[in-house]
Amino acid sequence: MVDKQDILDAFNFRHACKEFDAGRKIGADDFDFILETGRLSPSSFGFEPWRFVVIQDMALRERLLPVTWGAKKQFPTASHVIAILVRKSDMRYDSDYLQHFMHDVKHLSAEAIQARTGVFKKFQESDFKLLGDERILFEWASRQAYIALANMMTGAALIGIDSCPIEGFDMDGAEKVLSDAGILNPAHFGLAVMVAFGYRKNPQPEKTRQAMSQVVQWVE
Ligand SMILES: Cc1cc2nc3c(=O)[nH]c(=O)nc-3n(C[C@H](O)[C@H](O)[C@H](O)COP(=O)(O)O)c2cc1C
Repeated sequence: MVDKQDILDAFNFRHACKEFDAGRKIGADDFDFILETGRLSPSSFGFEPWRFVVIQDMALRERLLPVTWGAKKQFPTASHVIAILVRKSDMRYDSDYLQHFMHDVKHLSAEAIQARTGVFKKFQESDFKLLGDERILFEWASRQAYIALANMMTGAALIGIDSCPIEGFDMDGAEKVLSDAGILNPAHFGLAVMVAFGYRKNPQPEKTRQAMSQVVQWVE
């Protein structure tokens, strides 16, 4: 068992790092570990709507900078940057992609696939009302990508690696840069969020949070 205090220490160590030490690179083993915490993350119905694109090409980071106001110092100094893409219409209950996924990844029988597709159809059509506008499906897939995002940042913090989540970008502009680079096929994917990893250059600022009583409501 891991000591609770060690975990809380990692949560306190994690902060949105504004600038990394450009001279320090994350070792391959450590970065594989971070990616593994993303890969093992939960997703609705287990459909893993994400793709983690690790951007180590500095020229591409430079092309993203004009449309990424939230990472002006992070992109040039980070050891590693991940763009988390998510699937859009592929996540519809009746898509070829999900049929393939249930068959080839989940190894479900034809009957199980049919049953699960029925449940998923109801979920998307009436429970969560995700159909109609592709943007809603994108946002739903993004919500799951953010779980992987959080797990990767926490995983990194647990081994002493800093990170910064990056939502400070012009979505159309950033998607176009990635699409022009042949990395994002806009027919299937959108850009949910990005995240930079490395080692902090400066001490982290004091953490501010609301009191527990302001964010937790008990009903007994
Ligand atoms: C989804 C998300 C997107 C964020 N985008 C940016 C960003 O583009 N640039 C940045 O410097 N910080 C970004 N942040 C960092 C937040 O401002 C930061 O997490 C918050 O102020 C709390 O501070 P802490 O993470 O240092 O505890 C983002 C945080 C989240 C969760």
